[in-house]
Amino acid sequence: MDFNGKTTTSLAEVAKQKEYIELIKTVLSVRFPERAPKAYVHTYGCQGNVSDSERMKGLLQACGYVFCDKPEDADFVLFNTCAVREHAEDRVFGNCGALKPVKEKNPELIIALCGCMMQQQHVADRIRKSYPFVNLVFGTFAFHRLPELLYKVLCGRKRVFEISENKEPVVEGLPVYRDRDVKAWLPIMYGCDNFCSYCIVPYVRGRERSRNPEAIITEAKELIAAGAKDITLLGQNVNSYGKGLQDDIDFPRLLRKINALDGDFMIRFMTSHPKDCTKELLDAMAECEKCARHLHLPVQSGNNRILKEMNRRYTREEYLNLISYARKVMPDLSITTDIITGFPGETYEEFLDTISLVREVQYTSMFTFIYSPRKGTKAAQMPDPVPYETKSRWMRELLAVQEEIAAKRTASMVGKVYRVLVEDETHEKDGRLTGRTGGNVNIDFAGDSSLVGQFCEVKVTQAGNWVLHGELLK
Ligand code: SAH
Ligand code: SF4
Ligand code: F3S
Repeated sequence: MDFNGKTTTSLAEVAKQKEYIELIKTVLSVRFPERAPKAYVHTYGCQGNVSDSERMKGLLQACGYVFCDKPEDADFVLFNTCAVREHAEDRVFGNCGALKPVKEKNPELIIALCGCMMQQQHVADRIRKSYPFVNLVFGTFAFHRLPELLYKVLCGRKRVFEISENKEPVVEGLPVYRDRDVKAWLPIMYGCDNFCSYCIVPYVRGRERSRNPEAIITEAKELIAAGAKDITLLGQNVNSYGKGLQDDIDFPRLLRKINALDGDFMIRFMTSHPKDCTKELLDAMAECEKCARHLHLPVQSGNNRILKEMNRRYTREEYLNLISYARKVMPDLSITTDIITGFPGETYEEFLDTISLVREVQYTSMFTFIYSPRKGTKAAQMPDPVPYETKSRWMRELLAVQEEIAAKRTASMVGKVYRVLVEDETHEKDGRLTGRTGGNVNIDFAGDSSLVGQFCEVKVTQAGNWVLHGELLK
């Protein structure tokens, strides 16, 4: 292992991909003698996928590609897909179908599909049969091998499918192309071992694999040096970080190490699974001054029978205890969550337990989903008698409760001063900026665009329905 925490396998793999990058450059310089080849990359799904795409874009850039905003302008189209709900998959099939006429106009166009959805054999089979204009399909275990796979397509004129699983450690030392400097994603682990009964992720992302701490610290330092001010540590269950590594490390210790790095930046992490969210982690968060006062702690349901059926391995009471401990050590903590309504067999009474939990916790915001059966998961086998319309009605009821809570919360922020990171110029009116608080709430205020990427103090002056307005103090 070298100082960057790169394993020998990793070094050999990166060296191999670098050779393919050189070969691709030669092929592309012949195909595109007058201009740089263009790639269009579209990412579906979670931040984990966004982060994988940043690495694939790093590889494409190394091959000589520049990026464009429309498939119609591209020489290479890559969709990085998500399988978490049916709706996500339908969008990919729809958008992929829309590429057919684009390919007819430009037969040289190379179309590739990758990511979680492709890792499922039945999806790869459907693409093989019904989408013959797709040149390349690869799963989540092969994203670092994009140069090798693309080279095969460029030279062979044959379709390439690569969806085998591998159990190798994470490949380090890949180039990364980031769309933004100020907010950055930093993956610390891949995969998931939890097998919540409704979830496809463990099947398409494989077993948990943690990145080496040195590699994470090195990347964090690079990000900070490049101007990152808001760094989100990523993993399906960051609390499992470190399992299986030789290093004496776990997530609270990693958090402390990153907190100790020089620079003015904020640390966030997601996702933290309640069953492994320990008091030790909450204490570490409270002690780390760079850790944003924001905890995303997906509860999924407030009913113990449903939680058991979901295989979440905590009870409503245990979850609520965690929340009260978190608020005790961090009184200003902003808590967000994910909720599924209409899990197979859920009754209205059981759903009302979720409503009462939401009222009790008073979340800052939440992501709500109607249960979507996923092929191969345990929940997909369970009887599911409640019609979709009923589930939608429950969802609307839940959203109404959350709106009430959010309105109270935003009203209580009026008159208070918050330190925000200025993210972007909003497009509504000239001279308005958006700042994000540590608690992940946006405040809109008048200011000069030179403040983008800086921390400022803003006083909230007015609470609108969805947005807070404020004035710049300094
Ligand atoms: N690892 C994270 C969540 C990853 S998936 C965690 O355990 O919290 C993001 C969210 O999608 C989940 O929290 C869940 O609320 C939702 N989700 C996952 N599978 C789903 C399904 N089959 N139907 C509806 N929502 C689902
Ligand atoms: Fe899915 Fe559960 Fe893993 Fe989250 S912890 S990715 S919900 S199996
Ligand atoms: Fe989707 Fe895969 Fe993320 S299924 S939510 S892109 S891990």
